Amino acid sequence: MSDMKQRAAEKAIEYVEDGMIVGVGTGSTVAYFIDALAAWKDRIAGTVSSSEQSTARLRSHGIEVIDLNAAGPLSLYVDGADECDPHKRLIKGGGAALTREKIIAEASERFVCIVDPSKRVDVLGRFPLPVEVIPMARSLVAREILRLTGGQPVWRDGVVTDNGNLILDVHNLSIVDPVAMERELNQVPGVVSVGLFARRPADVVIVGGEPPLVL
Ligand code: A5P
Repeated sequence: MSDMKQRAAEKAIEYVEDGMIVGVGTGSTVAYFIDALAAWKDRIAGTVSSSEQSTARLRSHGIEVIDLNAAGPLSLYVDGADECDPHKRLIKGGGAALTREKIIAEASERFVCIVDPSKRVDVLGRFPLPVEVIPMARSLVAREILRLTGGQPVWRDGVVTDNGNLILDVHNLSIVDPVAMERELNQVPGVVSVGLFARRPADVVIVGGEPPLVL
């Protein structure tokens, strides 16, 4: 799958324009995008990064990383996903970076999602849904998730997010109404963010292949 990821990432470079500040996601597909973006580093105004991992890779190429507060609204955000449905709604957070990813997606005019073909599904939920939680609320939120969704929350033991929080991965879901589930889970006290990108889906999905498929 890695060559499929690379093809999708390299296709996304076509959306980069001179002078842009580019929002950059997290994950193995985005790593290829960052490597391709290195050739643009003197043409763009900089990047906003969604994780310490991506920041390190961007800086290793000499690409400038700017704080989102200083950058203002972004015209482009490029990120991967764990699942993508036909409406370009996503599950994200397999790399535990969902909260910053969601913030940057919200700040961006165009969200270009880059995936390999294995990420496409008809109904979201086969990939366990990541939920970032405040540590003291871990058990409370797990009980509420079970009650509200019937899914099985599993603590991603040993993982602390860049924001100092924990991740619950919710198994055995079939998410027929992702907008409603995103809204409902967002309201549980202690939930920082939900890895459903349904209220603000991707605008463009690039599926790696020969040639890449642009949806
Ligand atoms: C990071 O938290 C995730 O949202 C990633 O975007 C997602 O896990 C995709 O990762 P890969 O590109 O490594 O498959």
